[in-house]
Amino acid sequence: MLLESILEVVRACGQMILQADRTQAGTEIKDGQTNNLVTKYDRAVQAALREKLLALAPQAHFVGEEEDVHESIARGDAFIVDPIDGTANFVKDYKCSAVSVAMTRDGVQELGVVYNPYLDEMFYAQRGKGAFCNGKPIRVSDKPLEQGLTLFGSASYYSELVDESFRLLRLCFDRSMDIRRSGSAAIDLCTIAAGRAELFFELRLQPWDFAAASLIVREAGGSVTRLDGSALDLSQPCPVLAIGTGVDPAFLRRAETSLA
Ligand code: IPD
Ligand code: CA
Ligand code: CA
Repeated sequence: MLLESILEVVRACGQMILQADRTQAGTEIKDGQTNNLVTKYDRAVQAALREKLLALAPQAHFVGEEEDVHESIARGDAFIVDPIDGTANFVKDYKCSAVSVAMTRDGVQELGVVYNPYLDEMFYAQRGKGAFCNGKPIRVSDKPLEQGLTLFGSASYYSELVDESFRLLRLCFDRSMDIRRSGSAAIDLCTIAAGRAELFFELRLQPWDFAAASLIVREAGGSVTRLDGSALDLSQPCPVLAIGTGVDPAFLRRAETSLA
């Protein structure tokens, strides 16, 4: 079965992360930004994903964070992968990073897998079939934000979004029990899916950050949209808001200014 084979591929990539010699990581900066990093392990995991996933589905397009050219996913089958979501964490040995693989058909998410090798947690979902962590069904929280945790991403590669990110974070902080910042959007979204926190937002994510985990949230009964409530777009960067069933979806929308 395709899902089982993909889980095996992703688990093996998780082992590559655990066994990496980070002293030989060859860390480089990307796009001229000192906080946007890539290591030889990001490239090696992506190369392994490309080879093994395309062996399973040779007809598929392949979109990976570290590819130079991103193929269109609008037609046919496609893999959208982030080899290491949480590269800064990986470089710092913070032990909070994940391998993320989504499969789409004609632009629709069919399958999502996010593996956190540090906790040996394998999250996955297939469209219409529910969401799971290590084989057990997961469900989002039904708690209101007042009894919940807010997770956020600081959109740290986009300086123009920092003020607005922290303004919204302050609003969430005032409404929730507390805030958390993991450094991996894929893990944050799976944390919402597993009902361990109630709200996650980040003002700009790339498709490979959310393609797998947003399906997992939806299949766990949660809502995942842009901040204005409109649908996410897998072909371009966009803001992401994920919530459990107890959180008012309009809460941040009311606070939002010009963000779509
Ligand atoms: C990043 C992580 C981080 C989020 C950034 C992402 P990367 O991915 O998901 O949590 O705040 O927006 O770009 O660069 O480590 O793959
Ligand atoms: Ca990422
Ligand atoms: Ca990455």
